[in-house]
Amino acid sequence: MSSILLVRGSTRGNDSVSGKVAKALAEGLAAGGTIVERDLVATPLPHIGTDFSSAIRLASEDRTPAQAEAIAISDKEVDELLAADTLVISSGFVNFGITSILKSWIDHIARAGRTFRYTENGPEGLVQGKKAYIVLASGGVYSSGPAAALDFAEPYLRSVLGFIGIKDVQVIRVEGIAMGPEAAEKAIAGALAQASELAKAA
Ligand SMILES: Cc1cc2nc3c(=O)[nH]c(=O)nc-3n(C[C@H](O)[C@H](O)[C@H](O)COP(=O)(O)O)c2cc1C
Repeated sequence: MSSILLVRGSTRGNDSVSGKVAKALAEGLAAGGTIVERDLVATPLPHIGTDFSSAIRLASEDRTPAQAEAIAISDKEVDELLAADTLVISSGFVNFGITSILKSWIDHIARAGRTFRYTENGPEGLVQGKKAYIVLASGGVYSSGPAAALDFAEPYLRSVLGFIGIKDVQVIRVEGIAMGPEAAEKAIAGALAQASELAKAA
């Protein structure tokens, strides 16, 4: 039994194939435990702005009400992340990277003093002991072949998760979704099978 934070980052709602695979994976990993579903398209976060960017450098008592509100929004997302044993993130490729709604979530959870800190030896991740799974869907194929250099999703997500301390990361690809219905069906079936294997192995 495990507590899972499922962060749904696709912009395609119920049509999302990364969302479908991530949900099946989360249910398998939870094994009767809890799943907190954070649907970023249903309840999007605001982009970080001037209040957030100035408030992160201020003590709480020195913040304006607007700055305090910006930090409260971020704190809620950080609390949800810290409360989970396991993180499952899904996203479709949008212009060679992750969706902007997922980028916004990352901007809110990457917080000095809460999820990482600066030390004499450089930055140190504070989110320890957690495992993450990333489900990435794309119209084309990026895991190998000529478009691999255009993959700004997996390297970015691995980097930012590693930065906050999550280094145990597994990735499931649902690739070639735009290459005809047969290719799409095969990709989804393969990804669901991989999700089932990963859930059994956890
Ligand atoms: C606005 C937009 C931009 C997209 N950009 C890319 C892209 O750069 N590369 C790609 O392979 N697919 C791209 N796609 C296709 C999606 O990645 C594909 O539909 C995938 O299934 C989306 O994931 P989802 O089904 O989980 O939402 C794009 C789709 C949309 C709507």
